[in-house]
Amino acid sequence: MAGREGRWYPAAMKKKIRRIGKAERRYVEEVLATDFSNSKNSGILGRFEKEFAKKVGTKYAVAQVNGTASLHSALFAAGVRAGDEVITTPLTMSATCMAILQADAMPVFADVVEGTFQIDPASIEKCITPRTKAIMPVALYGLSPDIGKIMAIAKKHNLVVIEDDAQCYLAKYKGRMVGTIGQMSSFSLQSTKHMTGGEGGVVCTNDPKLADAVRRFGGLGYASLSRAKGIVKKDDIQNPNYNRHVQMGFNYRMPELCAAVALGQLEHLDELADRRIDVAELFMEAIGDCSWLKVQETPAYATHSYWAFPVRLVDPSIEWVLFRKKFMELGGDGIYATWKLSYLEPMFQKPTRNLGGKEKVLGEIYKHKHQPWQIGLCPVAEKIQPQILAFKTNYWDWARAERQAKILKNTIAFYGK
Ligand SMILES: Cc1ncc(COP(=O)(O)O)c(C=O)c1O
Repeated sequence: MAGREGRWYPAAMKKKIRRIGKAERRYVEEVLATDFSNSKNSGILGRFEKEFAKKVGTKYAVAQVNGTASLHSALFAAGVRAGDEVITTPLTMSATCMAILQADAMPVFADVVEGTFQIDPASIEKCITPRTKAIMPVALYGLSPDIGKIMAIAKKHNLVVIEDDAQCYLAKYKGRMVGTIGQMSSFSLQSTKHMTGGEGGVVCTNDPKLADAVRRFGGLGYASLSRAKGIVKKDDIQNPNYNRHVQMGFNYRMPELCAAVALGQLEHLDELADRRIDVAELFMEAIGDCSWLKVQETPAYATHSYWAFPVRLVDPSIEWVLFRKKFMELGGDGIYATWKLSYLEPMFQKPTRNLGGKEKVLGEIYKHKHQPWQIGLCPVAEKIQPQILAFKTNYWDWARAERQAKILKNTIAFYGK
């Protein structure tokens, strides 16, 4: 079993589930009823943070405006500053790498494991230099990397681990919840994710100092903000002698309306997450023993939460684009490619960063002796990136998911192998 233990419902329920339910609407109404009057704050943000921390299993959760902001805040809290290096995977949505650049640090790319698509601990070790400050692994598609090994490397070299769990909810690593293992973890609540607030991001941690630092960084550096306090007190703000900003920060506060939706989502997150696992299992059945579609491997140490269902098309005689076209001709909803490797994105090659009034090429600014940002840097990631087909798993209507799995089966049969 690749998916979660102790499922919400024992087998795939042939029913429609509602992504947005009554609770979400009720909490939104609660926020609206305050008229957004500062003195009548609904307290929803704090309630959401408390419940989110409980669900993940950390002491603290700090909610922010999106998952890129929460990665940026976590990097700041980890002490990452200009010129530091942060090791990450190139096979991810580029927000991971952009957050590192946003922190004025240098992303250093480790290669991935072919079967799991996840960052390779052996490659991480080779990337460490005296300037390395942190490792930012990603639980790509909802599967944990080998985080135990990554933690051991981090400990040996005194590095901070920030899990990018934007795509991973309620998955386990050796029985432990993903998001509780690194010093910090960051989640996204963007609309395609397991749970959403429309937008949103959350940093989870057990360390009170890190939680304070994340809160303050994402709250314009306000003095009185802390892990427990997301809102500045009236007595402070109305005092002419109040020294508000004790450090540089950004306004990354999560809007109350997003927190209201997210609080409602938490109440049925198990159901939402299990649906994605069930849909992935449907697709897995459809693939059966087809030798040229290789499913992302779930190692024995992990359970998968299937933000999407990725497979590799490994037969060079079948073109990726034509396979997708045929799937869609037969009634399929579409298939996503995975992201270009971050270091091969045009932003690294073109003048995109304005430094000192001059646009410069990122790949030139961040020169690194181990890291020519070009083909050949991460051979495994470069091999598998063009092969990956990612199927949607967010089907709330079970009949529609079954139809899609059948179409996949028919597409495989069309190629007759
Ligand atoms: C792996 C990963 N990291 C970070 C992000 C950024 O999250 P957000 O879109 O909430 O800023 C995403 C979002 O898609 C993601 O998939």
